[in-house]
Amino acid sequence: MATPTLDKVEGAKPASVASPYITVTFRIRRYNPEISSEAEWQDFPIEIDPKERVLDGLHKIKWETDGTLTFRRSCAHGICGSDAMRINGKNRLACKTLIKDINPEKPITIEAIKGLTVLKDLVVDMDPFFQAYRDVMPFLITKGNEPTRERLQSAEDRERFDDTTKCILCAACTSSCPVFWNDGQYFGPAAIVNAHRFIFDSRDEGGEQRLEILNDKDGVWRCRTTFNCTDACPRGIEVTKAIQEVKRALITRRF
Ligand code: SF4
Ligand code: FES
Repeated sequence: MATPTLDKVEGAKPASVASPYITVTFRIRRYNPEISSEAEWQDFPIEIDPKERVLDGLHKIKWETDGTLTFRRSCAHGICGSDAMRINGKNRLACKTLIKDINPEKPITIEAIKGLTVLKDLVVDMDPFFQAYRDVMPFLITKGNEPTRERLQSAEDRERFDDTTKCILCAACTSSCPVFWNDGQYFGPAAIVNAHRFIFDSRDEGGEQRLEILNDKDGVWRCRTTFNCTDACPRGIEVTKAIQEVKRALITRRF
C-alpha cells in the first residue's frame, strides 16, 4: 500500500513559502541642473527579489517612489545599449546586472557613466560619443559598379571581424577609459571597435581612409592598453585586442 504524502494527509497545513523579497538600498547620484549645480547621493530602500535586475529596481523607484528619477532604457534585454551606468563603481548595463550578484547587503551605488556631460541623474550627453562613431565611417565603402548579386565572402574572412560586429554602442568601454576621462577628444574604444569592424571586412575598400583617420593625434595611439574597456564591455568583445589590431594594421598596412 502506498504511503500517503504529507499534502494528502487530512488536516495537514501546506509548508509556508519563504518570501524572496529583501530590503536593498539603491544609493543613486542625483543631478538636476534646474534645482542645483551640485550632484548629490540619495538613498532609496526598496523591497525586491534579489534575482531581479538593477533596472527592475530603478523602475520600482521611478514608478512607486520618485517619478523624477531619470535614466535611459529601451529593450531591457541587453540589446539596445541605452542603460549603461556605473554600478558599484563599474560600468555595466542595468538590465543585465542581477541584484544578487553585486553584494545587496550593502548600499548599491548607481551613477552616470564618466567622461560625458551629465544632463540629469543617470543620463549623459552622448553626442561626442556618437560623433566619434560617425567620424570613422561605420558603413561599407566600395568602388565600382554595384554587383548584380550579393558580395561573397568566405567563412574565414567573415570570422576576421566577427567579434567587433557584436557592439551595441552602449559606451561602457569608452566611458571606462582613463584617457577619455582626461581628454574627451580621444576617439575612444567604441569608435575604434566600429572602425575595426569595417577595416577587416574583405568586402570593404575604405580601410586606408579609416586608418588615416585613426592615425590622428586623438586616434589609436592614445590607447594605453589598460584593459578597462575589455573589462567593461557587456558583449564580451575583446576591445583592447581590436585596438591593438588596428595599431598593427597602421604599421604594416596589412589588413
Ligand atoms: S565595444 Fe562593448 S562596451 Fe564598447 S560600446 Fe560596444 S558593446 Fe559597449
Ligand atoms: S535597456 Fe537595452 S541594453 Fe539595457
